[in-house]
Amino acid sequence: MNNFTYHNPTELIFGRGTLEHLATKLERYGKNILLVYGGGSIKRTGLYDKIIHILRAEGCQVTELPGVEPNPRLSTVRKGIELCRTNQISLVLAVGGGSVIDAAKGIAVGAVYDGDVWDFYLRKAVPNTALPLGTVLTLAATGSEMNRSSVVTNWETQQKHGASTTFPAFSILDPEHTFSVPKDQTIYGICDILSHVFEQYFTHTTEIPLQSRIAESIMKTVIENAELVLANPEDYDARANLLYAGTMALNGTLPVGVVTDWATHAIEHAVSAIYDIPHGGGLAIIFPNWMKYVYKENVGRFVRFATEVWDVNPADKTEEEVALEGISRLEEFFIRIGAPRRLADYQIGDEHLDSMAVKGTPYGPIGNFKVLEKEDVREILRMSL
Ligand code: NZQ
Ligand code: ZN
Repeated sequence: MNNFTYHNPTELIFGRGTLEHLATKLERYGKNILLVYGGGSIKRTGLYDKIIHILRAEGCQVTELPGVEPNPRLSTVRKGIELCRTNQISLVLAVGGGSVIDAAKGIAVGAVYDGDVWDFYLRKAVPNTALPLGTVLTLAATGSEMNRSSVVTNWETQQKHGASTTFPAFSILDPEHTFSVPKDQTIYGICDILSHVFEQYFTHTTEIPLQSRIAESIMKTVIENAELVLANPEDYDARANLLYAGTMALNGTLPVGVVTDWATHAIEHAVSAIYDIPHGGGLAIIFPNWMKYVYKENVGRFVRFATEVWDVNPADKTEEEVALEGISRLEEFFIRIGAPRRLADYQIGDEHLDSMAVKGTPYGPIGNFKVLEKEDVREILRMSL
């Protein structure tokens, strides 16, 4: 295990009816609110009305930024920054999925920065201060509710980049807020959560039994609850387990002392930057192909994945056979839950393979389990067509 420091300041408020905690948070962070939300799901579910009711009862001034896109756009983040400056916002409140939260993070750091917020995403600058941010999460997927990452797309230049921005001060997670997530978005969320674990599980770092078992436990929890949630979207416990798994998969618990990978996310972001496909859908397509491309770098880790996560019986099989069976089990699971299988499912052909390979390696080679050059990325994308 490598040395590490670990600090996560987000207050996680989890469970049925927890929206009522919002009022006490407002007392602490001020009453001049920028309410950030997406394309209307929170209005359809009634969550918007409940939040406005709480904000009014607390005497808040509310400025709204509706319409944050899935795969949020830089132009929207800039709009939010402008609203913060003209309205002396004291708290950015994001209500929605990862896209809404990521946009709100960009707004929170951009509002108190003299330069262009895109600098953070281009790694030209690092934010050292931010407006306070609170979130009410409505979709189990990204883990953005308890980490400092923000992923934003500059649509003019077709670049999708992540930046380290700011942790939410608090995040309210009520599993009932996720009952209305449609089937396709639920599936994408499941694929995204598993992918976050894969990025941190496939490592050459040794002597990490605790990190490995936590990762395996998250994966098993997602696999066990995925079909329950899809069969009954209002199964509270299954939604709750998925929601907590999503947070645990990307809140800094797994990478402590471990060299992590993240190549597949970089590749998916390159695909999304050109084709604007759902993040979790892209990952479901690319990850099994990444696995087939890299497993020989450390067959033992894939044997562990197969036996611990998928209960593959290793008797009378070579290590390679066991490793490949684990990858097949993952593919079968993705098929069973209805995830997309090939880039062709999104009408993506080989037209932009080179361009995606370039965008996938914006700062040079990616990944650590196997260091991938542009040509490797191209090959993984070709395998995913
Ligand atoms: O926009 P609205 O109307 O709210 O609808 C959304 C959107 O259409 C809908 N939705 C959300 N909650 C709902 C709901 N519909 C009904 N009922 C609800 N309760 O779902 C659609 C997708 O929402 P989105 O926020 O885009 O999904 P997700 O949470 O998967 O976020 C995806 C974005 O996060 C980035 C991805 O790249 C992508 O841009 N990521 C962020 C990460 C992070 N900050 O740590 C890490 C991830 O790896 C990922 O890259
Ligand atoms: Zn992801």
